[in-house]
Amino acid sequence: MSTLLHVDSSVRAASNPNPDHDSISKRVARRFIDTWRKKRPEDEYIYRDVGVNPPDFITQDWIGAVFTPEENRTPAQKERLALSDELIAEVSAADVIVISSPMYNYGMPAQLKAWFDQIVRINKTFDFDLSRGDFPLQPLLSGKTLILVTSSGEFGFEKGGIREHSGHLAPHLRTLSKYLGVDTMYEIASEYQEFGDERHRLSVANANERAECIATELSVTVPAQAPQCAVLPV
Ligand SMILES: Cc1cc2nc3c(=O)[nH]c(=O)nc-3n(C[C@H](O)[C@H](O)[C@H](O)COP(=O)(O)O)c2cc1C
Repeated sequence: MSTLLHVDSSVRAASNPNPDHDSISKRVARRFIDTWRKKRPEDEYIYRDVGVNPPDFITQDWIGAVFTPEENRTPAQKERLALSDELIAEVSAADVIVISSPMYNYGMPAQLKAWFDQIVRINKTFDFDLSRGDFPLQPLLSGKTLILVTSSGEFGFEKGGIREHSGHLAPHLRTLSKYLGVDTMYEIASEYQEFGDERHRLSVANANERAECIATELSVTVPAQAPQCAVLPV
């Protein structure tokens, strides 16, 4: 049995009275999750919608509590870190993490960044040691697989694409993923939402197909073998 952590972050719902308003990233992620859970119904499943229920932003008090040794923390400081503890426990328990994210202003939504800020925490998910020279931070978690599902209105954010240098969503998530303990990451991107044309339709169809294919292959090979469909072009 493994544990699947699913984090959605669009402010849009997956299903609305007008389906044109449905979150594409949530719907594609749902395709992955439904496929996975059909194959592995015994797995633990943890769900967070940080787009609809955003974690608190961190504060000066939060940082003060983090840097206070655990045994010296006041009840108020413990309370201040309770959400962070809970979110870190969910990440620690997970073998496979699915994060779905819209592109907002060329990066991730503030709500998803707030989730990372609660989780990337000294002596919990990384430690810091200046004897490591120029790279003092080291992740404390490992062995996890991340599936990143994104949706954007424009297109061409991939390597060599016409907006490569404006694409800060997947690169930022890739950098942060190591602090979740991610060793292997698959990306599923849907683009062209703002154009609403055939390219958009094909992009969504391709993303759904990749989600189903990666879920199908990973659900039997987890965690060792890379799925063949992961090498299909986005
Ligand atoms: C506040 C906001 C900012 C956006 N910024 C960008 C952007 O910088 N680049 C882009 O390609 N699309 C942008 N979009 C379009 C969204 O990425 C697109 O609608 C995507 O499908 C949203 O994800 P969702 O369908 O899962 O909600 C933006 C949309 C909103 C609402």
